[in-house]
Amino acid sequence: MAGFEEVSIDKLFRIDGDSALVTGAGGGLGRIAALALAGAGAHLAVTDIDAAAAERVAAEIRDAGGVAESWRLDVADRKRIDAVIDQVAERFGGLHILINNAGIIRPGPAESLPDEDWDEVVEVNMTAPFVCARRAAKHMLARGEGRIVSIASIMGFRANPMIPHIPYQATKGALVNMTRSLAVEWAGRGVRVNAIAPTFFYTELGADLRRRRPELVDEIEARTPLGRLGEPEEIAGGILYLASPASSMVTGHTLAIDGGWLST
Ligand SMILES: NC(=O)c1ccc[n+]([C@@H]2O[C@H](COP(=O)([O-])OP(=O)(O)OC[C@H]3O[C@@H](n4cnc5c(N)ncnc54)[C@H](O)[C@@H]3O)[C@@H](O)[C@H]2O)c1
Repeated sequence: MAGFEEVSIDKLFRIDGDSALVTGAGGGLGRIAALALAGAGAHLAVTDIDAAAAERVAAEIRDAGGVAESWRLDVADRKRIDAVIDQVAERFGGLHILINNAGIIRPGPAESLPDEDWDEVVEVNMTAPFVCARRAAKHMLARGEGRIVSIASIMGFRANPMIPHIPYQATKGALVNMTRSLAVEWAGRGVRVNAIAPTFFYTELGADLRRRRPELVDEIEARTPLGRLGEPEEIAGGILYLASPASSMVTGHTLAIDGGWLST
């Protein structure tokens, strides 16, 4: 009698023993990504510019029975990226999964945007995901398997009429197309590259803006078909899908987790 074995949850989503590195995992969506992967059996390298925050999340995973260690990693430091990725691969016997999550905002009108803001956002949101992917791929291509997931944004597909932020728009758009290009370049060698485009989520990233302009939340809710912002844990399913065998035929894709934003 036919059973569910071929399509079991375990077969699709378990990633036991795979090693996974998440950038900016000390809080927000990165923390949820790390918890989701660890819960599915991966060994986690929890990295963040804030070493204490990274260690708190690693401890949270260990307390829950998972495997995790923390590293301080500022993704604006290219040499450090290479060193940490090599250390993680050495420590865990390879690197199977990279989540390019760290990202920053420096909103403001384009005509008065300081060069430093432009440079900082470009470095963290666009250059770093490439530098991380390049180093991670060195390990992944050598063993013929790997999954890279970058956190882009709905702002990689649309202008933002509410919050002027040209470097964010530009870098997230670049991340969407970088995902396609790296996916095609590495597709024949076992490495899949995908991205997620979240809508506005309740994390620290937009907390300051929401405090200063409380009416923003109403505007976002009104503009969103599902009528609300995302809760951090609502990113978990997408992360797990793209980082597991469940998405084995998917590469170059950006998955919108957007309450319908991009459909309007
Ligand atoms: N929250 C949202 O509304 C939203 C929407 C769309 C996309 N995103 C994207 O999701 C990702 C995560 O966002 P979040 O909302 O969790 O942000 P967050 O600000 O809540 O958390 C970001 C984490 O990254 C760390 N970090 C900041 N700069 C870093 C650096 N240079 N190197 C390493 N770590 C650094 C911070 O310490 C923090 O732990 C970002 O790429 C962001 O652009 C967020």
